[in-house]
Amino acid sequence: MTKIKKINNKTINEAVELLQEGKLIGFPTETVYGLGADATNQKAILKIYKNKKRPKSNPLIVHTETIEQASSIGVFNSKIEKIAKDIWPGPLTVIVKKRENSNICKELCAGNDTIAIRVSSNKTILAIIKKLGNPIAAPSANKSGMLSPTSAAHVEKQFKNNIDIPLILDGGKTKIGVESTVIGIKNNNIIIYRHGGITKERLEKKVNEKIIDLKHADFSEKSNISPGMLKKHYSPTVPLRINITNPRSDEILIGFGKKYKEPNLSKSGDLDEAAANLFYFLEKYEAKGNKIAIAPIPNIGIGVAINDRLNRAVQ
Ligand code: TXA
Ligand code: MG
Repeated sequence: MTKIKKINNKTINEAVELLQEGKLIGFPTETVYGLGADATNQKAILKIYKNKKRPKSNPLIVHTETIEQASSIGVFNSKIEKIAKDIWPGPLTVIVKKRENSNICKELCAGNDTIAIRVSSNKTILAIIKKLGNPIAAPSANKSGMLSPTSAAHVEKQFKNNIDIPLILDGGKTKIGVESTVIGIKNNNIIIYRHGGITKERLEKKVNEKIIDLKHADFSEKSNISPGMLKKHYSPTVPLRINITNPRSDEILIGFGKKYKEPNLSKSGDLDEAAANLFYFLEKYEAKGNKIAIAPIPNIGIGVAINDRLNRAVQ
């Protein structure tokens, strides 16, 4: 049985014990909910792939408590270390070379010699990692290709009565609402593989250099570089159309900005508010069985991450 429980010391301890037994837990981060496993436990990692129906070729993100723990499993050159120090804890994932001698389960990296690592700012997951003493592998807690979950109830809906996932910790609706930004370094350039919680502009300001979008990057093996980023993804189970100002009579229109009625991702045109509401609203109207149309969202700031998700959703 999968149970949703409020977060307190007792349920944090329970989460740690379940992870020690090789079980999975659902938990909140500042971006979306994660499906967590002890990153050193092979059986638990395989349960993530199985339950998410995730192709074994698509590697998982590892969450660590600190930069020191991150650099014990991945190689941090001075450039990546500076970025990590500037941004972590926060909605950024870095792809680095993995350390060969670490105890991280090899299936987690799906055969790559790189590893994706992030330090979340969510206090609950940091406390759980600390008590467990090992990093936690945590992709988003959705079935592969489906909407990402921004509430405990949405995680439960996707993994009902699942013996591998006995516990979902309920931290309310997530603050950011889209996944972390994923970056890596190629030829000493910072490349964005996935737009997300921290915008390109903010990152550029923080690190004081131009960052390249994977789309515009110039290196040959890029189609394999981040397997999860190229396919149809984030899709509701109901029909969805995007960039719509005049919906059809059988569609519910999700607006953005003051000229649209409710439901509205942000009446005041605030893109952060829209990101926080995106998956939440899609899930709500998916559950009602509505056909959904979404108004145009400006492609600036975190709007780039929103449009990335929407464009993949309608592939
Ligand atoms: O905000 C987030 O990042 C959430 C929360 C739960 O932390 N996690 C998340 O994980 O979105 P996931 O697995 O849904 O997305 C991870 C992305 C995938 O597209 C995967 O292909 C890519 O990161 N990735 C993971 N390891 C990689 C690696 N070694 N090289 C390239 N891409 C990698
Ligand atoms: Mg995901």
